[in-house]
Amino acid sequence: MSQKTLAVAAAPLLFLLFLLPSPVFSQESETCLDCHNAMKGTIKAQSGAMVDLNVDTEKFKASVHEMLPCTECHLKFFDASHASSGSAVPSDILSLSSKISAKFSSDPVAGAACVKCHEEAYQKVLSSVHGKNIIEKKQTDGALCADCHGSPHYITKAKDGKSPVSRKYQVGTCGKCHGNQEIIEKYKLEENVMDSFSESFHGRKLLLGHTRAPVCSSCHNAHDIRSKSDPLSPVFGKNKLETCGKCHKGANEKFVPAITHKRPGPIPHYGEKLLILLTMGVFAFIVIHVLLEAFADIRDAVFRKKEDK
Ligand code: HEC
Ligand code: HEC
Ligand code: HEC
Ligand code: HEC
Ligand code: HEC
Ligand code: HEC
Ligand code: HEC
Repeated sequence: MSQKTLAVAAAPLLFLLFLLPSPVFSQESETCLDCHNAMKGTIKAQSGAMVDLNVDTEKFKASVHEMLPCTECHLKFFDASHASSGSAVPSDILSLSSKISAKFSSDPVAGAACVKCHEEAYQKVLSSVHGKNIIEKKQTDGALCADCHGSPHYITKAKDGKSPVSRKYQVGTCGKCHGNQEIIEKYKLEENVMDSFSESFHGRKLLLGHTRAPVCSSCHNAHDIRSKSDPLSPVFGKNKLETCGKCHKGANEKFVPAITHKRPGPIPHYGEKLLILLTMGVFAFIVIHVLLEAFADIRDAVFRKKEDK
């Protein structure tokens, strides 16, 4: 075939491509979804875990990865036959997948494949407290991608209001674990972080919809999260000057200790409760007073009429 005939043959095809909504939903995904969209219920995977085989076509199409063929992540699942083709998986991804495999029930290679396209985010998570919890301590309760971003098939942009890491939902997402008593006790984590955040000036402003109020990742980072005793943590000692300084211009060493997650001392804590009680007491007193006065007016009006007669 000459180049000219090829161009002539390709033109209508290219035209068709323009007609499709972009980014293009892959034909291969369509094939996989023919089965997996229709599948309901769970099966027991080789690992012994119960696995939900359903992938919802509509929700997948609404995700950031809509245009990816399934096999961009499921590198081992060459085609619909599910013939395992481990040799097709690059060795670095294979070795990463074996380090994180405890977090996955059926396809750790898919969980490692994100690194192909999100190298920086992935490396930061691996060197964070959450990554080390998985790789060095061999635990499964540290956070990997899906613990924060939700199901790998339905990820939306962080800025999208529906994402579990968005301003609206992020506090609840970190709170799944940092408000979980079992995890707190197991790792001797700071007890009070969720309550102290929601009671803080910041937490209250966030609830009221203040667009610049901080969420957890504003002070702790999103991926490179570390213990406060790690010099690379944004809340380690002097690093707080820069962290608070992002929003509080001229934050100095007197200002930065203003925010901790420590339980407030008994005086401010009970002081606040007492103030609420006092306010409510005064309010109740006024209401009762007004009611009694109205009652007295009615009574007087009725009895005076009788006396006047
Ligand atoms: C003909 C129907 C069909 C098609 C098409 C199909 N699958 Fe499956 N898939 C299944 C069934 C049945 C299972 C569960 C049994 C098994 O593990 O083989 C499954 C299981 C899986 C699993 C879970 C692995 C496990 O067994 O624990 C993954 C991942 C998967 N499929 C991905 C894909 C991908 C990617 C494609 C497209 C390249 C695809 N499937 C196409 C029927 C299908
Ligand atoms: C962005 C990467 C990515 C894409 C794209 C992707 N998957 Fe997955 N998929 C994953 C990960 C990660 C898991 C979790 C594997 C595990 O827990 O072992 C998974 C799990 C699965 C499972 C098993 C369910 C489970 O809970 O273990 C099936 C079935 C599946 N995917 C099918 C598909 C199909 C069909 C497509 C294409 C429409 C697709 N996947 C596209 C990353 C992806
Ligand atoms: C502890 C929770 C957490 C974990 C674990 C996590 N993320 Fe994130 N991720 C976030 C938050 C929060 C944001 C939003 C950051 C922002 O708005 O500045 C984000 C943003 C992103 C972004 C867009 C911004 C950027 O930095 O490029 C990508 C891509 C991303 N994450 C990929 C990943 C991948 C891949 C993994 C797994 C290796 C992962 N994330 C694990 C919390 C997490
Ligand atoms: C083949 C490349 C590829 C792979 C593999 C891949 N992604 Fe993505 N991912 C993308 C692209 C491209 C986008 C941006 C889409 C856009 O901008 O509309 C994206 C977007 C994202 C975002 C949203 C970033 C934001 O702006 O908020 C997150 C989070 C994310 N991916 C996580 C993952 C996770 C977790 C995995 C593995 C399970 C994964 N990705 C695998 C290509 C990939
Ligand atoms: C899936 C559970 C889970 C999620 C979600 C999670 N974490 Fe964690 N986090 C942990 C565990 C477990 C540890 C303790 C790790 C260890 O010590 O091995 C930890 C440790 C930490 C530490 C260090 C604490 C210390 O004492 O060293 C900080 C800070 C932290 N997480 C912040 C966050 C933030 C911010 C988010 C949300 C963006 C988040 N985490 C989401 C489970 C989680
Ligand atoms: C305004 C900044 C700020 C925000 C917002 C914030 N933190 Fe913190 N966080 C800190 C500081 C500063 C510390 C250091 C410890 C201290 O001084 O009490 C800390 C400590 C922690 C620790 C203990 C770390 C360690 O090594 O012991 C955890 C866990 C934690 N924060 C989780 C969270 C979670 C979850 C959220 C969201 C609900 C959050 N933080 C929101 C500033 C913040
Ligand atoms: C993402 C932005 C952001 C970050 C980071 C941040 N703050 Fe704030 N902070 C705010 C906003 C917004 C308010 C409410 C300001 C208002 O309404 O005037 C506030 C209010 C405060 C207040 C009460 C009012 C005041 O201005 O005195 C204190 C104290 C405070 N922050 C301390 C801190 C400390 C300490 C840090 C660092 C550990 C920090 N903040 C980090 C955004 C931030």
